[in-house]
Amino acid sequence: MIPVGRIEDLPEGESLRIEAGDGHAAIAVFHSEGAFYAIDDTCSHQDASLSEGWLEGCYVECPLHAALFDLRSGMPTCLPARKPVRTHAVTVVDGMLYVHPLVPAVQEEAVA
Ligand code: FES
Repeated sequence: MIPVGRIEDLPEGESLRIEAGDGHAAIAVFHSEGAFYAIDDTCSHQDASLSEGWLEGCYVECPLHAALFDLRSGMPTCLPARKPVRTHAVTVVDGMLYVHPLVPAVQEEAVA
């Protein structure tokens, strides 16, 4: 469990990148429409930081080639990305935001 910070330090519509440590990939954390989300920071298409993308409700648009990812599932909704990014569970305890790097936020559907 990684402490991200106080919830007021990540205002609505903002995102940030955190290092997960222990060899894990960096994680992007978002605050959108009253909820917090965490996904892998690196786009599944190429090497772009999704924390630098544009938030649109429950979606983030990759800043490099504009693939759109669903923050709830990590699934891309358009090309050029074809693979999902991992989601990570987020909890708030006493105003502190935590990310759980190895716990998926939702059960992803199997991809054929
Ligand atoms: S790097 Fe994200 S869509 Fe290409």
